[in-house]
Amino acid sequence: MTVHPASHGPPRLMISEEEIQSRVEEMGRQIAADFNGQPITVVGVLTGCLVFVADLIRQMDFPVRLCFVRASSYRGTTTVPGNLTIDSSFLPDVEGRDILLVDDILDSGQTLKGLMEHLREKGCASIRTAVLLRKKGKQQYAIEPDYRGFDIPDTFVVGYGLDFNDEYRNYPYLGILE
Ligand code: IMP
Ligand code: MG
Repeated sequence: MTVHPASHGPPRLMISEEEIQSRVEEMGRQIAADFNGQPITVVGVLTGCLVFVADLIRQMDFPVRLCFVRASSYRGTTTVPGNLTIDSSFLPDVEGRDILLVDDILDSGQTLKGLMEHLREKGCASIRTAVLLRKKGKQQYAIEPDYRGFDIPDTFVVGYGLDFNDEYRNYPYLGILE
């Protein structure tokens, strides 16, 4: 049996659990106020959205539909995005639906751009986007999220759902690997 040890120790704190919780609470309240009880379909982008979307939807006090798509773009240690692959086999019919697309982080913008095109092709009525993090100045596509938790500098962050090689998603705070 091969044992694969974690690549690094615990991430160095960047944004604490408390800061995240209060910001996500604000975002949820804002979204709830904007949609004003109008039915929405929340589409989370797997896997990074998992913790964020779970906290966000619990701030919404009206019935929402929750579903997921999977998106991945191959990248090495450089964060240059490769080709985007979308798996929407779990996505129910979104025709005529108002969508809130939720991702963990906006980097180049390729993922959200590709997913928005994909959802439009499926005939949804409208799309708004929510991201927990935005890397300042990194966007190669003109994507302006409707809701955004924090702007961060161009560093690789993990925790609160975000991974490095599929690890570290479990940390309740956002941190930097050293
Ligand atoms: P984009 O398509 O370049 O905007 O990249 C967005 C995707 O890249 C996110 O959904 C994340 O999965 C991943 N990503 C980008 N930056 C980071 C990071 O700092 N930590 C973890 N994942 C990241
Ligand atoms: Mg992701």
